[in-house]
Amino acid sequence: MKLALTFNIKKDSATNLSASLAADESEGSLSSGRNFKKYLSQNLIENYPERIDDTFAEWDSEETIEAVKSALEAGGHEVDLIECDRDAYEKLKIHNPEFVFNVAEGLSGPSRESQIPSMLEMLNIPFTGSDSVTIGICHDKSRCKEILSYYKIPNSKFFITDAIHKTEKNISFPKFVKPLHEGSSKGIYNSSVVNNSSELRNEILRIKECYDQPSIVEDFLEGKEFTVAMLGNGEDVKVLPIVEINLDTVPEGFNKIYSYEVKWFFDTRESKLDIFRCPADIDPVLYGQIEDVCKAAYLALRIRDWARIDVRLDKNNIPNIVEINPLPGILPDPADNSCYPKAAREYGLDYNAMINAVLNCAFNRTVIKK
Ligand SMILES: Nc1ncnc2c1ncn2[C@@H]1O[C@H](COP(=O)(O)OP(=O)(O)OP(=O)(O)O)[C@@H](O)[C@H]1O
Ligand SMILES: [Mg+2]
Repeated sequence: MKLALTFNIKKDSATNLSASLAADESEGSLSSGRNFKKYLSQNLIENYPERIDDTFAEWDSEETIEAVKSALEAGGHEVDLIECDRDAYEKLKIHNPEFVFNVAEGLSGPSRESQIPSMLEMLNIPFTGSDSVTIGICHDKSRCKEILSYYKIPNSKFFITDAIHKTEKNISFPKFVKPLHEGSSKGIYNSSVVNNSSELRNEILRIKECYDQPSIVEDFLEGKEFTVAMLGNGEDVKVLPIVEINLDTVPEGFNKIYSYEVKWFFDTRESKLDIFRCPADIDPVLYGQIEDVCKAAYLALRIRDWARIDVRLDKNNIPNIVEINPLPGILPDPADNSCYPKAAREYGLDYNAMINAVLNCAFNRTVIKK
């Protein structure tokens, strides 16, 4: 079949702070304020200069795009590459693919992940993954949690704020503060766990200044963390082997969270953290509870084909949904810690088989056979 692969690719400038500071915003940038150096510890700036800038953290590397393309070709398809830039709509119209494999995070704005799905819906071209509504909702952490709450699916209590004076009164601590519309742990640092009003205030200001957006302030979930790869549609969705995030590997002195520091500074190809346990080594009752809560969340949000769902236990050991990623990260090299491919491998799907399994879910859903 004639397919297109829609994507966003990391700019070279992502590896260079000064270049990125000078980057032309019109090319598309996921965040607007760029003053994060001010908020990072000197130690991090000195030791990880090339990884400090998180502007394009959500976008894929050339290696990932090539790996997805070659997996689709191995599945017998012809694949056109279509970058999600300002000409994307015209390119889609001209190429007129029969089907699209979509991994594009979009250009800018809170609903950027909906941009390619919306174009494809307008052009009536079927595609992998969730529709523009679902993908947009999941990228707004508060909207997603509101739907989960409606269906009584456990998730931490929260409020959002974009100005200090809107902060709720009589707050209990600790709280967890994160940007409302980011992924890949952008904006989530050790300082995101706050224990008093002054730390809370600093985090809200940091997020406003660096990412120009409101914060979501959540009750801190103090228990173990898991991430769960899902594949399929409706009641037939498969829960792939659960990955436990082994937070004991987080360096001493840092909070037990999967922060930007942990994901991108401390866990590298050269110096890998032993951070995943797959399948999670937990008692079968808890394992079943996590599967059930993820399945319920998947159905409530009407996710299609695939997603990765983050879960943490609260103080009563109840699995809570942290967030839902309808476009999960899929780094191809097993030397990189990437949860969806890790769970798929454990399930028996290598990278090519995993990509084609997602495509087949989408084919079956749209009743198009290859
Ligand atoms: N309410 C919370 N309580 C405790 N820890 C939390 C909470 N919310 C988030 N975290 C921690 O912060 C990490 C990143 O948060 P979250 O998954 O919401 O961000 P993200 O940037 O969307 O992540 P991803 O890289 O999966 O796209 C989580 O994996 C978890 O370790
Ligand atoms: Mg997450």
